[in-house]
Amino acid sequence: MTSDDADELRALVRATRTLAEQLRASGASGVPAAPRHVAVATRPSSTSPAVEHAPLPPAPPPLPEASTTPPEERARSLAALSAEVVGCTRCALAGGRTQTVFARGNPLAELCFVGEGPGADEDASGLPFVGQAGQLLDKMIAAMGYAPDEVYICNIVKCRPPGNRKPEPEELSACLPYLHQQLALVSPKVIVALGATAAHGLLGAPVAITRARGSWRLYAGRVPVMPTLHPAYLLRQPEAKRDVWRDLQAVMERLGKKR
Ligand code: URA
Repeated sequence: MTSDDADELRALVRATRTLAEQLRASGASGVPAAPRHVAVATRPSSTSPAVEHAPLPPAPPPLPEASTTPPEERARSLAALSAEVVGCTRCALAGGRTQTVFARGNPLAELCFVGEGPGADEDASGLPFVGQAGQLLDKMIAAMGYAPDEVYICNIVKCRPPGNRKPEPEELSACLPYLHQQLALVSPKVIVALGATAAHGLLGAPVAITRARGSWRLYAGRVPVMPTLHPAYLLRQPEAKRDVWRDLQAVMERLGKKR
């Protein structure tokens, strides 16, 4: 066994232990046995509503009511998880990245935005949503009345897919356990899923985003998720900004955020 293999094995053992702890905390008595088959978007774009059949990435374990772990410990665990992700070789995306892209913002935020995966700008900077789509996302966040460091922003996959293609099912499956651990630690009150891939990864089922947007769903049996359109889509279809603003207003209302 090489030292890379040993590192990967150790990371897997840690991730499995974390998931088992989350399951135990939620009172679950078992885990789903067989992989199911569902649909994912077909176009290699980050915003396609089309779907086709592909293996389902692992579903998140049900979360307990809210994290009872002290905030400092959650922030420390997130930093440790981020450091673990830096060395990840779980899928082929590791070979093409400049660096991993874990998150930006407040690790204890009440509101979390989840996108698809890093693009060229994010791969270069190591931070999510710093390119054109990210600038639009920041404007949306400001319009909601939040400073950039009041919310938490991350992606379904932590490495850039080549040519900004949609992540493959194996890549989603390899990376999703990181997101589940990340969200269990942040423990947001509300999650916004930006685009079809984010909604699919969070909800564990295919999502035609133009139909699903605007309706509340649940992540891990507990956390409200608002699926909406990806900012990259809005750059191409600015007339859809009105719909997204309606979705974000529903989020603000849910969080008691006055405008
Ligand atoms: N698109 C995403 O989905 N995530 C990023 O970080 C940047 C662009």
